[in-house]
Amino acid sequence: MNTLEKIDKNNIPEHVAIIMDGNGRWAKKQGQERLYGHSIGVEAVRESINACLTLGIKYLTLYTFSTENWNRPKEEVDGIMNLLVQTISNELELLNNHQTGLIVIGDEDGLPDSCRDELRDAKEFLAKNNKLYLVLALNYSSRWEIKNAIKNISNKVKTGELKTEDITDEIISNQLCTALIPDPELIIRTSGEHRISNFLLWQLAYSELYFTEVLWPDFKEEDLYLAVKNYQSRERRFGQTSEQII
Ligand code: IPE
Ligand code: IPE
Ligand code: MG
Repeated sequence: MNTLEKIDKNNIPEHVAIIMDGNGRWAKKQGQERLYGHSIGVEAVRESINACLTLGIKYLTLYTFSTENWNRPKEEVDGIMNLLVQTISNELELLNNHQTGLIVIGDEDGLPDSCRDELRDAKEFLAKNNKLYLVLALNYSSRWEIKNAIKNISNKVKTGELKTEDITDEIISNQLCTALIPDPELIIRTSGEHRISNFLLWQLAYSELYFTEVLWPDFKEEDLYLAVKNYQSRERRFGQTSEQII
């Protein structure tokens, strides 16, 4: 039996988030520039989308560009932004054929105009699709998101719209970029790094974390199936005891 056949179709995560890491190291291993690694990384995005469509995963969040990534050399940042615009434009028809919608989380206002325009048009074009939602975390950082949520909630308290004692987990969740998206059951990070790098800090409270040595450009459908298979082998206790779960 291959991995796909071994996956329990009744226990598929609704939301999988991926920290796509290792493009630069992959390129270096090939004796190439870092940007080449990013461009081949697009192939791994296609593989992941296909795997999600096959399994019936509803939300695929991809950590595409963090607020900290602006600190990279300008040439690399410009290259990533151009690649993003190119890729969205190239893949639009295919995404539409796959009934995939597009959601962006992060500070879109801080992106270059060409990028913002392309994203706006793509979101509009794919608006009616609901089989899979591709969520791109772009110019995103979790602390930025949480800070904004705190500001918004503080303002509501100040104007009397909300009482401090009435603040709930749900009210906080609803102020995040992911307001309409369920928390990810599974977070994958490639390239052997074991850290979160400012990603979905509130939302990952009970996510299962899966780390793989595979560098992002080498990531295939099979790797996502392996991650889901591993997820299914875990006992999610949410603070309860093992006996209570069974
Ligand atoms: C991930 O690959 C892509 C982005 C962060 C944009 P990296 O570019 O971080 O690759 P490494 O970690 O340097 O190998
Ligand atoms: C995290 O990867 C951000 C994205 C995948 C977009 P990084 O490569 O930027 O993370 P660090 O710097 O190694 O923590
Ligand atoms: Mg990296």
